[in-house]
Amino acid sequence: MSAPKTPSADDSISRWNRRILATLAVGFVVMSAGVFLDTGVQQEAATFSPEGVTGKRIWLRENCMVCHQFYGMGGYLGPDLTNVVSRLGSETTAWVIRNGRGSMPNLNLPEEDIRSLTIFLEEMGETGTFPQKTWPPGWFPPVHQPLPGS
Ligand code: HEC
Repeated sequence: MSAPKTPSADDSISRWNRRILATLAVGFVVMSAGVFLDTGVQQEAATFSPEGVTGKRIWLRENCMVCHQFYGMGGYLGPDLTNVVSRLGSETTAWVIRNGRGSMPNLNLPEEDIRSLTIFLEEMGETGTFPQKTWPPGWFPPVHQPLPGS
């Protein structure tokens, strides 16, 4: 009596199956390399200075978010402020916070609060760019577009 035949690799995985497996394995390695080499993934996280953190507290206390957005999220009376300092410069940014402009109210803040807020906005701008202009495309959908069905 001969021993029962055990299936060999050749029997259970056909030549075509092995080709498909090899293609998937190569694809996995290439995609993994792409993910790990992506500079967006390796980029160092921006940190806030103590004065920037104070500025953030004032930002929350004054409810700036009611009218403004970071990364497209927030209230819509005023503009997105993610990169406001690189757009206007620190002096003009501080000037608008100090005096108000158009529908932006003058909040009568002390100079040190205006300074901390400006530093907070400056450091906020270093966390990224909005709207994103780079690949991979942004996490955030385009804003200011009508909702479907409205
Ligand atoms: C009541 C709504 C409202 C609140 C609250 C508010 N803002 Fe504004 N802000 C606006 C509007 C509206 C504008 C645009 C003004 C214009 O068109 O001239 C603006 C403009 C600005 C600008 C200039 C932006 C640009 O691109 O020109 C800065 C900086 C700014 N606000 C900072 C702040 C900060 C900091 C706070 C909180 C301390 C704050 N805002 C609170 C409504 C508001």
